[in-house]
Amino acid sequence: MGNTVIVGTQWGDEGKGKIVDLLSEHADYVVRFQGGNNAGHTMVVNGKEIISHLVPSGIIQQKKCFIGNGVVVDPLVLLEEIEYLLSNDIDASPAMLKISNRAHIIMPYHKLIDNARETDKGDKKIGTTGRGIGPCYEDKATRRGIRFCDLLDFDFFKEKVRIILKEKNFYLKNYFKSQTIDPETIINSFEQIRKRLLPYIADVSVILFEGINNDKRVLFEGAQGTHLDIEHGTYPFVTSSSVVSGNAANGSGVGPANLNEIIGIVKAYTTRVGAGPFPTELFDDIGDKIQQTGSEFGATTGRKRRCGWLDMVVLRNAVRLNSLTGLAITKLDVLDDLDEIKICTGYQYNGTEIQDFPAEIKILQSCIPVYESHPGWKEDISGITKFDDLPENAKKYLARIEKLCSVRIKIVSVGPGREATIIKEKIFN
Ligand code: GDP
Ligand code: IMO
Ligand code: MG
Repeated sequence: MGNTVIVGTQWGDEGKGKIVDLLSEHADYVVRFQGGNNAGHTMVVNGKEIISHLVPSGIIQQKKCFIGNGVVVDPLVLLEEIEYLLSNDIDASPAMLKISNRAHIIMPYHKLIDNARETDKGDKKIGTTGRGIGPCYEDKATRRGIRFCDLLDFDFFKEKVRIILKEKNFYLKNYFKSQTIDPETIINSFEQIRKRLLPYIADVSVILFEGINNDKRVLFEGAQGTHLDIEHGTYPFVTSSSVVSGNAANGSGVGPANLNEIIGIVKAYTTRVGAGPFPTELFDDIGDKIQQTGSEFGATTGRKRRCGWLDMVVLRNAVRLNSLTGLAITKLDVLDDLDEIKICTGYQYNGTEIQDFPAEIKILQSCIPVYESHPGWKEDISGITKFDDLPENAKKYLARIEKLCSVRIKIVSVGPGREATIIKEKIFN
């Protein structure tokens, strides 16, 4: 029994939303601790698909949800999402959802700058989601950010907006030759936004502390994946926040001793959206087949996801960086039709085998994956709910993954629906 962190181990879209929804049943509180609406987390319940970008996936099970101080929040997207949830009969009122007073606000100029920079970079672009994530975190670090608590004192908010826009408009106009923004237009739009969001603003850290002291169980919902982490990912082809489990504490305002179980979500193969190195990427029919069978399109931008084989250099890196105590393997069913399934066990670089994920992008780009081959199971596993009922070759594939990274698999997901799940080992008692 304990507080559990869910993190992506690859480049995002591992199926975190599905697993958080599933485990929310056993939690009292569900907290997002980093990222913003660059995330797209999909839940499928009774055949109905719900995608959340900002509100923790625990809202579907109607658990108390929190947006932590480490998240960057676009207030318009949040309000839209609250409406969307309400229209699906999911209560996302202030009684169910709180936003940290310390969370930073994604402002209209953040989105403009994000997109202007990407256009400016041309074919060297990162392939961001264009949601203003990087520029917002940048302002946080340079101490120019606007926080939710600033909305409580609207005169202070107005003053901050007017000051910061002088600099932003200079940059937009003179560097990008782009449109500028009238501060009064922003201020006017925030009159309404503010009124609607004020009841949601709270000191999330204090509420979580009190809850934990009263035996409430907390589920921390990571966004993105370990290899998009600003510190440890394929820099600069990363997002702008720390994605790894250690940040679950910092990004929600609880101490690290409160993190008890850390589950890494692992897609049974690998995908990546946007630019950046991806050693096991497939450029052949098998890659296309995985992309189609897995419906690998981004839940936020709709972009086609690049697909490739499972990479154990990546997974072992995630095991080390996150202190993983268990794995959830998702989308195993997507491999049902394949004759042969490969696992990358290491990289060849300049005639030597590399086991550790390199920091240098140029080295990573030149790494050649070393593969071992496994026979497929050629059977529809999407209806299986007991581990023992899986085909032998599927069990062998899973056992090999466990062996290669020394972490036990606790959950196997065989379909998008909540019911298409095999619990191998209980996470919550
Ligand atoms: P997240 O960002 O990690 O929450 O993942 P996304 O929601 O962006 O992408 C995962 C996609 O795979 C979604 O469309 C899910 O509905 C779907 N999915 C999750 N688990 C499974 C699974 O085990 N099998 C199949 N076929 N689809 C799954
Ligand atoms: P979830 O939570 C997959 C990628 C973008 C881009 C890079 C930087 O659904 O797994 P950003 O807009 O964050 O500055 O873009 O990070 N990216 C994701 N890829 N899943 C995500 O979230 C992602 N969030 C950001 O595609 O390559
Ligand atoms: Mg996603």
